[in-house]
Amino acid sequence: MRYYLTTLLICTVTHLLTSSDAIFNNNDSESIWSTGKGNAQNTYRIVPSMATNYSKIPWTYEYNATSQDLTQFGRGVGINANFMVCLTSNGIVRWTLSFEPVETMEPAGVSNIISDRQGVLFYTISWAGDRKFTAKLCQITNAQTSQPVQQCIENYQLFMSTNAPLALNEKYDLLVTAVEDNKIDSIPAVLDKKTLKLLWTNRRFFGAGRNGQYRCDTSTGDIFWIGGDTRLLKFDHSGKNLINNYTDAYLSGIDFVLDKQRQIIVQPWQNASSLPWKLVVSSYDVSAQQIKLRWSWCPPSSIGNNDGITSPAIDEQGTAYMSSMPLAFAIDSQGKTVWTTQLATSSEMKTFELYSTCVAMNSKRRVLYIVSVSQSRQGSKSLCFITAVSMDTGKVIERINLNLTTNEQIIPQCPILVGDEMLYFSWLTGEYPELVPLKVMGIQQV
Ligand SMILES: *[C@@H]1O[C@H](CO)[C@@H](O)[C@H](O)[C@H]1NC(C)=O
Ligand SMILES: *[C@@H]1O[C@H](CO)[C@@H](O)[C@H](O)[C@H]1NC(C)=O
Ligand SMILES: *[C@@H]1O[C@H](CO)[C@@H](O)[C@H](O)[C@H]1NC(C)=O
Ligand SMILES: *[C@@H]1O[C@H](CO)[C@@H](O)[C@H](O)[C@H]1NC(C)=O
Ligand SMILES: *[C@@H]1O[C@H](CO)[C@@H](O)[C@H](O)[C@H]1NC(C)=O
Ligand SMILES: *[C@@H]1O[C@H](CO)[C@@H](O)[C@H](O)[C@H]1NC(C)=O
Repeated sequence: MRYYLTTLLICTVTHLLTSSDAIFNNNDSESIWSTGKGNAQNTYRIVPSMATNYSKIPWTYEYNATSQDLTQFGRGVGINANFMVCLTSNGIVRWTLSFEPVETMEPAGVSNIISDRQGVLFYTISWAGDRKFTAKLCQITNAQTSQPVQQCIENYQLFMSTNAPLALNEKYDLLVTAVEDNKIDSIPAVLDKKTLKLLWTNRRFFGAGRNGQYRCDTSTGDIFWIGGDTRLLKFDHSGKNLINNYTDAYLSGIDFVLDKQRQIIVQPWQNASSLPWKLVVSSYDVSAQQIKLRWSWCPPSSIGNNDGITSPAIDEQGTAYMSSMPLAFAIDSQGKTVWTTQLATSSEMKTFELYSTCVAMNSKRRVLYIVSVSQSRQGSKSLCFITAVSMDTGKVIERINLNLTTNEQIIPQCPILVGDEMLYFSWLTGEYPELVPLKVMGIQQV
């Protein structure tokens, strides 16, 4: 159990490490960091921001924790940390902030961190002790200065023993999360962003759970998610259920993207009707109670049997971008292939056992940043690189080799793009019981 508890803290540390040095000069709603899995562009940007006084010199920040565990719980890694840190775009620690402790209890789970348009940060943290538990919703103001101010309210109803997703509903100033219902699953919970009070929960429906995510429609204020049981749910802001139905999704299906202008989702999944399972990407109209399949896209045979595919990123035109090694591809809003691009040679695929973890998108420059990394395999050589690809043509602009000289397992996070200038990339290395430092790199965008 101890390992399980420690698993979660890294997420907070990781996410907060990625808080950036920012000014608010960008009105793009997609720029707001909406969930732990990132926004629709998968950039994980915490605020609409530009790098300030960015030196363009690449840097790496390293945090060596005292004891860390790699567990079988997905991609989580344990860390005995109890603080958050904010790095500037030049890699300088702007601040560190301790979690508010709870006497005789230990942290049990944390959410991702979100930022609103005013740069206020929010996260939830759960605590457990001997047959006791509680939780807090915390707000951090002045995060852009060297003197952040943290204010937490305690509410045991927010307890979640695992990673909780936290999303922002801008239209109604709501915070959307998942809280524990019983030992097996979670249910949705919605809070008032201004008063930090719990507004509603709904025990009839499962929440997004540990790996899930919420998507909020910026024009209607409706809230979507696909739960662990692969059912797509839609609620209005007051908690009224608008959709409750299965999609074809299976297993990997919880990673979906919402086209916020058109009430359409795009979702990769695996078709289990044939062996081996086949990758499929489908698009659904989710404007009405009956979910309508718009199209299904079958990938080229070279990746059809792959297990892994990144979450989609979607642009203003509704074109979705994904990668499943060795390919990256763009699918237009009608389900037609715009381009496919090869990111690695077949000999690299063999030697390094590569898979893609994330597609981050700079929609202004029309550039994708795709993270590819070696699978953890004893004895296999490891490689980690980010490929910058033109969104219009699929042409590879540059392969940024990250030179992570390690043959240990790498657990990468999604890059955070800051304005058009730089990006943050963070990762963990190593395996239990060795030290597995958390590292963050700052590099210039192409
Ligand atoms: C952002 O929106 C505000 C008000 O909606 C407007 O005053 C401001 O000029 C906009 N900024 C940019 C960079 O578009
Ligand atoms: C910008 O960075 C340089 C060197 O990195 C530093 O000397 C200077 O004071 C910084 N300016 C501001 C406004 O922070
Ligand atoms: C972290 O540990 C590694 C390996 O022991 C060491 O090389 C590195 O300098 C340490 N970094 C910091 C910031 O202490
Ligand atoms: C779920 O979708 C199916 C197929 O579109 C439909 O027949 C069924 O009525 C839907 N169920 C609900 C509860 O909307
Ligand atoms: C799923 O696989 C079955 C069996 O091969 C096939 O008949 C069906 O068309 C597939 N569905 C999609 C959406 O590709
Ligand atoms: C990796 O090494 C190459 C060759 O030394 C260098 O050109 C490149 O900038 C390095 N990448 C990073 C991210 O530092």
